[in-house]
Amino acid sequence: MQQFPDVELSNRLKIPILGLGTSHYGGYSHDAVVYALQQCGVRHIDTAKRYGCEEALSKSISESGVPRDQLWITTKLWPGDYGYRSAKEACRASCQRLGVEYLDLYLMHWPDCGVPGRSNRDVRAETWRALEEMYDEGLCRAIGVSNFLIPHLEELKEDGGVVPHVNQVEFHPFQQPWPLVEFCRREGVAFEGYCPLAKGQALDHPLIVALAHKYGRSASQICIRWSIQNRIITIPKSTKPERIRENCQVFGFTLADGDMERVGRLHTDKKLIRLGYPLWNG
Ligand SMILES: NC(=O)c1ccc[n+]([C@@H]2O[C@H](COP(=O)([O-])OP(=O)(O)OC[C@H]3O[C@@H](n4cnc5c(N)ncnc54)[C@H](OP(=O)(O)O)[C@@H]3O)[C@@H](O)[C@H]2O)c1
Repeated sequence: MQQFPDVELSNRLKIPILGLGTSHYGGYSHDAVVYALQQCGVRHIDTAKRYGCEEALSKSISESGVPRDQLWITTKLWPGDYGYRSAKEACRASCQRLGVEYLDLYLMHWPDCGVPGRSNRDVRAETWRALEEMYDEGLCRAIGVSNFLIPHLEELKEDGGVVPHVNQVEFHPFQQPWPLVEFCRREGVAFEGYCPLAKGQALDHPLIVALAHKYGRSASQICIRWSIQNRIITIPKSTKPERIRENCQVFGFTLADGDMERVGRLHTDKKLIRLGYPLWNG
């Protein structure tokens, strides 16, 4: 079975560059996750309390028979649980639902906090202190953030001790936040991209379709390969085993520099997920 290349985090841990996304949007498929683990060599799975599938994922992992120490499991802390004590409770509850004793990566899901009467910065700093302690205790092998922009990261740098190991942000051909990627790289924060297929919307773009023909690959493989060649950790989601297999077959070819640049010019700043959006909508 193929092994995916890793990206080394600032604490020397290695995260597989390609993971499998899960979410409430589009449903959860137990059979697809078991297939990914057993047949495709997937060892990195991304989830979140918000997605409501941590318990289902626990069952899929257990049925797959893949030992815990061979897996990279990321889950996320929802803003409704921000705060020192509630963050710790939420992390333990996520571990319980996932059936694990530790997490490989725990992320603050959004920079917005929504705590009445308190500044977002204060709440983020207090919450981050809880994550730092859980990192020190080994409950979380790595800690990070998601959807954080440069000002959020700068504030956290002033307020916290541990530099986030990862920032997980929307990244696909139509959304290429290069200044943020470069800032993260300078600061030792690994950049992880979500929605690598633009939720499927990139798959019928004429350039992506043309490149798929040129390389004898699918449009989805072109998008995922483009993220990986940009050294971006990426977590496409599919509920269909045959698509997961396809999405994992991205290591046997290379996009030419000129084609990387052509996809690089598709950036329109289109965002599928808006800052603050899931606080009330999902
Ligand atoms: N941190 C955050 O705030 C945040 C936000 C959004 C997402 N995420 C993470 O990122 C993961 C991926 O994001 P996403 O699911 O929104 O978007 P995505 O991976 O860009 O796209 C998923 C969509 O593409 C379809 N698809 C997948 N593979 C395909 C293929 N080979 N051919 C044709 N269609 C294909 C899927 O449908 P089928 O299921 O029918 O195959 C699904 O509709 C999520 O699961 C989640 O873990 C994080």
